[in-house]
Amino acid sequence: MCGIVGYIGKRDVAPLLLEGLQRLEYRGYDSAGVVITGPKATGLKMVKAKGRVRDLEAKVPKRFTGTTGIAHTRWATHGAPSDVNSHPHLDPENKVAVVHNGIVDNAQELRAKLEADGVVFASETDTEVITHLIARSEADTLEQKVRDALKVIEGTYGIAVMHADFNDRIVVARNGSPVILGIGEKEMLVASDVAALIAHTRQVVTLDDGEMATLKADDFRTYTTSGASTTATPETVEWEAASYDMGGHDTFMHKEISEQPDAVDRVLRGRIDDRFSTVHLGGLNLDPREARTIRRIKILGCGTSYHAGLIGAGLIESMARIPADAEPASEFRYRNPVVDPDTLYIAVSQSGETYDVLAAVQELKRKGARVLGVVNVVGSAIAREADGGMYVHAGPEVCVVSTKCFTNTVTAFALLALHLGRVRDLSVTDGKRIIEGLRKLPAQIEEILKTEEQIKEIAAEYAGAQSMMFIGRVRGYPVALEASLKLKEISYIHAEAYPASELKHGPLALIEPALPTVAIVPDDDLLEKNRAALEEIKARSGRILAVAHQEQAKADHTIVVPKNEDELDPILMGIPLQLLAYHTALAMGRDIDKPRNLAKSVTVE
Ligand code: F6R
Repeated sequence: MCGIVGYIGKRDVAPLLLEGLQRLEYRGYDSAGVVITGPKATGLKMVKAKGRVRDLEAKVPKRFTGTTGIAHTRWATHGAPSDVNSHPHLDPENKVAVVHNGIVDNAQELRAKLEADGVVFASETDTEVITHLIARSEADTLEQKVRDALKVIEGTYGIAVMHADFNDRIVVARNGSPVILGIGEKEMLVASDVAALIAHTRQVVTLDDGEMATLKADDFRTYTTSGASTTATPETVEWEAASYDMGGHDTFMHKEISEQPDAVDRVLRGRIDDRFSTVHLGGLNLDPREARTIRRIKILGCGTSYHAGLIGAGLIESMARIPADAEPASEFRYRNPVVDPDTLYIAVSQSGETYDVLAAVQELKRKGARVLGVVNVVGSAIAREADGGMYVHAGPEVCVVSTKCFTNTVTAFALLALHLGRVRDLSVTDGKRIIEGLRKLPAQIEEILKTEEQIKEIAAEYAGAQSMMFIGRVRGYPVALEASLKLKEISYIHAEAYPASELKHGPLALIEPALPTVAIVPDDDLLEKNRAALEEIKARSGRILAVAHQEQAKADHTIVVPKNEDELDPILMGIPLQLLAYHTALAMGRDIDKPRNLAKSVTVE
């Protein structure tokens, strides 16, 4: 969703900001804009365009030069995507410029008050309210003008503000929407996502909620919205700028699928303890005594992260014997859940920004619950809000749909389950068995990736399907759910997932030659039950693609994957189905990295 990038220094700012906006494109947006100024009092110059960053670039005039600027990619919430609703928003005197991520909840009310005072609004956005409030403040400094405006605003924001009369600075503020400062040599940057910074600097400061900052070319300072100074020590970002390039692949999705052996290797690295057949998870902030008192685990996430959480719950139950389940965070927060002091809550999020997950975490913490985060983006809001947790170390995920992060999150859950299991009743022998299985994963993923040509041929057959069914049992069911989500997101083929055990309770009525079924058929204690489901489908002339550890006689196609330990098999069985979704969508000519209507980080309700 929306993205912010800003710069103050000596360089020609417009190309730099446009390049920054391109780096934010992956988040999803519908319009973009940029405002700049120079060191001499030249006033603010602005260009905005509905559409892509390249449409904005085409509108930028030749002499659009300056050394300070802020820019934005917008994902419409208040008001349709249009040139005028794009950010930045200027006041009528062209003095104040604001870019904003988030939502002003009391925008209607503030707008009505301002209009009653004679203010004429140019756009339908909530953000323009902030611009007028800043412009109307009578304070002497830009910092105080911004503070005056924020005092009356309710809602979430990450904002960057420029003012023609204070052209030596950019003022930024954060409440619920990320603001990251990039500290350079005689230049400063700001962005809502490190993706827009790391081509220029790896030294960053992430603002906390309620914090503001003033950026000047050779200096920055941070303080609270009530004006008290805060200390900010820059941290080094470990992600490489190259992670945001396609590196020879045609799409980010393909690149990220193929990165999985390395990514899984990273989530394991440095964590395995062979001596005690367990793993070290330093960031959990949960000592063994506390770990033994947990009576339940509740995992919360959205979309793919929720599916990873379902597999995680299964892993925890089987290895640690703690009752565990997963629930969409988006549902959890609205059903006034009973918050139990003996339950450990785990929030799962790739981005660490998903609003529904963040809001659930905040609600839980307000009620005194202990919440851990299983997150990919270091320093993200959910990671900061949680009492502890683990990073999944998948590296930046640029494609809107999640692949490598799903695999790494599930692997991270296997580590957590092993850790909790070994603190409780999992034997040394079982601990060793799981560790050996974990170590095999990267090479086994390599092996699966080698079957891509076969999967591509199968995908060509399914590309014309109107609808597809995905089935699995127990451990296989969340794999089916995730595979069906992946297919629908990027191919737009309708897909649904069912527990294989539920077939005869309804969905069997749908089975006919035109509805292919993808079945997860691991060699485990449920193999015969799964085979019976294949029989039921075949008896109704249904077409079957099996993902299995051996050829399945009843299936029209079988993708054979290497066997690991039963508990860890779901990690591997999802991977060929990422490739199936990918090649099906490719055969249908879809825009794989940017599926329609979707954004990478859903930072609003
Ligand atoms: C699907 C997908 C989404 C996200 C969901 C949560 O491919 O990417 O379903 O998983 O929006 O996002 P995070 O994990 O960033 O909280």
